[in-house]
Amino acid sequence: MAAIEVLVREGRTFPPSDDFVAQALIKDASVYEDAERDYEGFWLERAKEFVEWFTEPTESLEWDPPHCTWFADGELNVSYNCLDKQVNAGRGDKVAYHYVPEPPDEEHRSITFAELRDEVSRFANALRGLGVKKGDRVGIYMGMVPELPIAMLACARIGAPHVVVFGGFSADSLGERMESTGASVLITQDEGWRKGKKIALKAIADEAVKLAPTVERVIVLRRTGDQVPFAEGRDLWWHELVEGESTECEPERCNAEDVLYLLHTSGTTAKPKAAQHTTGGYLTYVSCTHKWIFDVHDEDVWWCAADVGWVTGHSYIVYGPLNNGTTGVLYEGDPAYPAVDRHWEIVERYRVNQYYTAPTLIRAFIKAGPEHPQKHDLSSLKLLGTVGEPINPEAWVWYWKYIGGERCPVVDTWWQTENGGILISALPGLTTLKPGSATVPFPGNQPAILDEQGNPVPQGQGGYIVMTKPWPGMFRTLWEDDERFVSNYFSKYGPSVYFAGDGAKQDDDGYYWLLGRIDDVMNVSGHRLSTIEIESALVAHEAVAEAAAAAAPDELTGQTPLCFVVLRSGYEPSDELAAELREWVGTQIGKIARPKAVLFGADLPKTRSGKIMRRLLKDIAEGAELGDTTTLRDPEIVEALKREADESLGRQAAAS
Ligand code: WTA
Repeated sequence: MAAIEVLVREGRTFPPSDDFVAQALIKDASVYEDAERDYEGFWLERAKEFVEWFTEPTESLEWDPPHCTWFADGELNVSYNCLDKQVNAGRGDKVAYHYVPEPPDEEHRSITFAELRDEVSRFANALRGLGVKKGDRVGIYMGMVPELPIAMLACARIGAPHVVVFGGFSADSLGERMESTGASVLITQDEGWRKGKKIALKAIADEAVKLAPTVERVIVLRRTGDQVPFAEGRDLWWHELVEGESTECEPERCNAEDVLYLLHTSGTTAKPKAAQHTTGGYLTYVSCTHKWIFDVHDEDVWWCAADVGWVTGHSYIVYGPLNNGTTGVLYEGDPAYPAVDRHWEIVERYRVNQYYTAPTLIRAFIKAGPEHPQKHDLSSLKLLGTVGEPINPEAWVWYWKYIGGERCPVVDTWWQTENGGILISALPGLTTLKPGSATVPFPGNQPAILDEQGNPVPQGQGGYIVMTKPWPGMFRTLWEDDERFVSNYFSKYGPSVYFAGDGAKQDDDGYYWLLGRIDDVMNVSGHRLSTIEIESALVAHEAVAEAAAAAAPDELTGQTPLCFVVLRSGYEPSDELAAELREWVGTQIGKIARPKAVLFGADLPKTRSGKIMRRLLKDIAEGAELGDTTTLRDPEIVEALKREADESLGRQAAAS
């Protein structure tokens, strides 16, 4: 029996347009053959193409499963590559970041590569002055301000691994991440801006430091200027610290395998895992994928609208684009502040060419309606991207139509914090797109889809996605927990097969369709169904903006789907609509998937990175006590859904 059954067949295809192909950077399919013929040679060539080395590597991959090294005899500095290399190549006056503060009346700042290099050097000198050495961990807990990449690059310059913690995390989460990585310095700011409100970052950092005795120094950037608690002797103001520091700072010579950063996976269960990323392989991988997948030309304006606190921001706001000498947008705040068209206003103003975001935001745009992007001139856009969750085909088509003007390829990119960079995605000048599919492996990558026993599933069937070869950007281990690295990722199918924890299927053309985390599979009458297909069917209904399915226990079938739906603006919840949606799923993908009930909510429970938190929906569907809700963006939402679910399934509301 298939590991996961496949119900949906999406038939629409979007070949690259002649206009797009004519200007595409990669339009010769031989890149795939090159990488396949000589995988190691292909990457060694990329390493020399994308990186300026102090000592050029002669070695490519060394693989002692599950561990690997890449370019291990090479020496480089990542900050030198992102900054000095650009200045030396004549890009000193080119803008590195257009910084857009959240308060709409505050002045924007455009920061050039030369300015960025100077600021990074001053701050790096200051860190060195505090005694921070190569290998020391430095925590960073900030909002989306230019000083966040400056702090990261300063760490990279002196070889001190940074540990960035997303600015929406609590004191407990921050403290635990500082303590477990042994950070000696924490960089934060007085306050951040979010939806017009001030977030007390420094006060939260103070709480966190109580849990992390390793932190000896706290550096505070002045952002809002409000009075904040300040511990004399421990705390230092950023602006005072860099005063008088030189704009020259000798970059540390790092080995390609030295640690560039630690970043905790966005997973919400158990103890957080800190993925350990390197300098040489990582920089090569993120730069090549950035340039090729998003087709970024030298004169383009690029916008990855993620937060730098997540891996997407590390790889595609900071390291990949800067190393490619790309001009990027850095927006501080909320996409709906002061109004839902904030992003489109920014795209129009800076003539953004490529825009990369997550399905969660696309669904929010759909919910609000197309009239908001339609108020703006989005004609500069050439390409769109998505990452973070499977995208429902209907949401993909909406994005393509209303944001991309039916002109821009939409690249759906599959990868994970552990991966460092994109593993599966179209190359937009070559690949015919299919909405809902991440399409094909990046040149050289070799995924496979296996069943429980480790046999490849027949094409068209669902199973567990794995990677059968290492790639330069992959994490090397989990910080100080190699045992967990092995048991989590390299034990199910042995040490040479990376187990990603996602379900996937391949269609007749060999395209990959991601089916979500394998824990989100439900079992209806012995059929293992992935929730994403039921959700995509719901989103294909004109009234639905987003949907999530979870398994409710059922005496007859074992489990049965319970669906949570957010309506598009202009639609109201009703019993009739719920009944219509149940029937709709039944006719779209089959009776077996017809939900037991459809519940309406104003929003779905999401993690702080915007992923639908299916674990909690499962608790609700099962009528169980709600699990840990502290990682939720808005805990109120689950309570409301729980009341509705208990009522609709005729259950006694739990006293929680
Ligand atoms: C999911 C984000 C389907 C997947 C870079 C993965 C996706 C997890 C996609 C990693 C995609 C990411 N299609 N699912 N294009 N991209 N995912 O660590 O379940 O925050 O395992 O890294 O997001 O999330 P993370």
